Amino acid sequence: MHVRKVGILTGGGDCPGLNAVIRAVVTRAEQLGIEVLGVRGGWRGFLENDTEELSRQRTRGILDAGGTILGTTRTNPFQVKGGPERVEAAFSAWALDGLIAVGGEGTLSLATKFHERGLRVVGVPKTIDNDLSGTEVTFGFDTAISVATEAIDRLRTTAEAHERVMVVEVMGRNAGWIAVQAGLAGGADVIAIPERPTTVDDICKVVLTRRAEGKTFSIVVIAEGALVQERGASEAHLVVSNKSPDAFGRPRLGGVGAYVAREIEELTGIESRVTVLGHVQRGGTPTARDRVLALRYGVKAIETIAEGASGVMMALRADEIIAVPLVDATRERKLVDEPWIRLCDVFTDVLWAKRRTSPPTST
Ligand code: F6P
Repeated sequence: MHVRKVGILTGGGDCPGLNAVIRAVVTRAEQLGIEVLGVRGGWRGFLENDTEELSRQRTRGILDAGGTILGTTRTNPFQVKGGPERVEAAFSAWALDGLIAVGGEGTLSLATKFHERGLRVVGVPKTIDNDLSGTEVTFGFDTAISVATEAIDRLRTTAEAHERVMVVEVMGRNAGWIAVQAGLAGGADVIAIPERPTTVDDICKVVLTRRAEGKTFSIVVIAEGALVQERGASEAHLVVSNKSPDAFGRPRLGGVGAYVAREIEELTGIESRVTVLGHVQRGGTPTARDRVLALRYGVKAIETIAEGASGVMMALRADEIIAVPLVDATRERKLVDEPWIRLCDVFTDVLWAKRRTSPPTST
């Protein structure tokens, strides 16, 4: 079948590099004689007939721009009455031969469902958390760790000047990739991640051990989704400051860093501060690496859909962009695994409790 017109949407949380993907799709599509229709606000655009024609002219000058010119939401048509049918009706009304869905786990799960219902859909993996399986890396991750590393570098000098403990809370809901890689790059003393529950006592022991060894300051990098056992609690759990869930019923993350900094100060007597990097990690211009990765994903996505494929996602494997089944990306999360934990353990104390047996006591 000849592909004449393809839609593109960006869904879920935004991510540096989304505009580079859009630019790549539109540029290559023009060369292939394919029209591109931008669907605005993720799947919401299908439900509200909100679209814009995308031309090469419209996508000039956006390569280095953060955010997404198409806007994004976490709209789930399957939670809207008649939603899936409305998406299918719009798909036909707009005469689309295919759709490129750029997003993380949520968006790609929906892409899979629509593929199973008969629409031609190809996915492009996006998330700063880098927790999608099927691909070695998602675009946006490199930017996030660069921003986080720069922040840690800056915090180190002020930590040293004041002989303080600096707790840096980074993003990472289910996976600690940002904490691990920015923590390693920034020379952290402690890296706390969702995959390895930790206790406040363990973190304090590391801080005191480093002091006993002569280091006058400490950097604690903690993922917002880290599981921490509070004093007196029987097990580790999420620590959040805002108890009300987000629009999807998920815990609204944020607050573990402040909690840990408070506890360190109280238990060790060492002055501690917290910095929450939050959405700074997601905003602004993508790194060169993310731009190039996003361009590669975009070109491959439009070429793949032009060949008539569906139900696949673009993936980076051994430095090649290939198409893998969409279900591979969403079946399970890519979590920080043992080789990375072992690497962290060389430089930090993520597995502190297992590694040392006689911690110094607080004075
Ligand atoms: O999934 C990417 C991510 O940045 C997570 O690290 C974070 O928990 C979440 O999005 C924050 O989402 P929101 O934009 O809804 O605050």
